[in-house]
Amino acid sequence: MSDPLSEISVSRFDAVEARTLRILNGFAIDLMAIPNVDDLFWYVAQKVVGKLGFVDCVIYQANADQTALTQVAAWGEKNPFGRSILNPLVIPFGQGITGTVAQKREPAIIDDLLKDQNYIPDTEPARSEICVPLKIGDRVLGVIDSEHPNIGAFGEAELETLTTVAAMTSAKLALLEEAERSSRRYNDLVVAHSELSAEKVNRKELEIRLSEARRLESIGRLSGQFAHDFNNLLTVISGNLELLEGEMSGPDALAFLQDGKDAAARGAILIQSMLAFSQKSLLNPQVCNLNAVAEDLCRRSKRDLGLTVELFPAAELWPVCIDRDMVENVLWNLIANAHDAAPSATDNSLISTENVLIEHSNLRELSSKLEPGRYARLGVQDFGTGMSDQDVQRIFDPFFTTKTVGNGVGLGLSMVLGFVHQSGGAVGVKSCPGQGSTFDLYFPAAPANAHTSLTNNL
Ligand SMILES: Nc1ncnc2c1ncn2[C@@H]1O[C@H](COP(=O)(O)OP(=O)(O)OP(=O)(O)O)[C@@H](O)[C@H]1O
Ligand SMILES: [Mg+2]
Repeated sequence: MSDPLSEISVSRFDAVEARTLRILNGFAIDLMAIPNVDDLFWYVAQKVVGKLGFVDCVIYQANADQTALTQVAAWGEKNPFGRSILNPLVIPFGQGITGTVAQKREPAIIDDLLKDQNYIPDTEPARSEICVPLKIGDRVLGVIDSEHPNIGAFGEAELETLTTVAAMTSAKLALLEEAERSSRRYNDLVVAHSELSAEKVNRKELEIRLSEARRLESIGRLSGQFAHDFNNLLTVISGNLELLEGEMSGPDALAFLQDGKDAAARGAILIQSMLAFSQKSLLNPQVCNLNAVAEDLCRRSKRDLGLTVELFPAAELWPVCIDRDMVENVLWNLIANAHDAAPSATDNSLISTENVLIEHSNLRELSSKLEPGRYARLGVQDFGTGMSDQDVQRIFDPFFTTKTVGNGVGLGLSMVLGFVHQSGGAVGVKSCPGQGSTFDLYFPAAPANAHTSLTNNL
């Protein structure tokens, strides 16, 4: 005959075990949705106390060096502050019961704390304790610890339950660590990819600018050589025409001679522009103030062309050391272009000046790279037809013109570019079809002690 008492205790035991199992199953399902380590620790502490019937639960996390534990979650009577710990306890590995469990990587049950030499008494007296390590392989991630006011409160069943909780928590911690590593790797990849793309675009633009600069340089060399030789021929032609003038008489002959001399003079102007483009002009640099040059030009354009050019001069503009006649020529060319681009003859253009401190010159915006330093900017802005990107690529080419025969040779801007480069500066162009154009010329500021010669020159 079977013993009815033992049957009752067996079935009660089964019921407790089944309930624990159900709780652990629910626990495993909940773990899947926990998004971060912090939530995980607090969830586990709360569950251990709330559902599994422990009086309290404290969780400690191990540091990467495996030398110390830091309290990261606590639930139960010992923590009246809810989900926060005011002064987290730090326990070195090997110290106290938790430190010893972390070091030995083995769980421990202490039946009577007062008899245990490792017990560090707390404000709340406890008599028994259970502590289980959280670990992946041999690496300790932390410990789960629970105390009880009675002696011998923990047995095999509690050990098994808490070890299962610790195993599930450790597995989830490993997953979260891996997810964190993957997300870091992914972010690194995204950053590296966008840096690479930016670099590619940058390099492509620089290559285009560089090949453009090289193209202009080689045209410059060629036209420089040509202009130089042609200049010599022109000198001979003009000289011979001068000699003939004394020998000839009769109005027709003299008129033919005059036509020849005029053509030679026009040729000389062309040659000067080509020499300027190839940076082979004979320059006479002197310290001058671009505001004064611009004022003169505004006056001249009003007087000679009836054009109003507004001037916005910078106060205390840094003086520059350049060929004054050439800079006047250059400015005249830019004003003439602005005038030609204006839809009506009454449209104004603007000249402005500015002190500019260049820290990194950007090849994308300027015709050539500028050394970091002080520059005076001379800008001419109009509100005329503007230019397409394609035209902007070609405007500095010698003989590029969109003007009708007789109205433009296409050497004005070539000369501007050559002169500015020969003077150590750079040109910036901004233009948009229908919205006008701005040409900015940057000239290096003269050294500070050049002021004296400037005042002498003015
Ligand atoms: N401010 C501007 N607005 C619109 N287009 C311009 C402007 N400046 C220059 N351009 C374009 O650039 C071309 C080249 O200008 P550039 O000054 O070199 O030669 P040009 O004016 O045609 O002839 P010239 O040798 O008489 O100066 C012009 O034909 C015009 O198409
Ligand atoms: Mg022109």
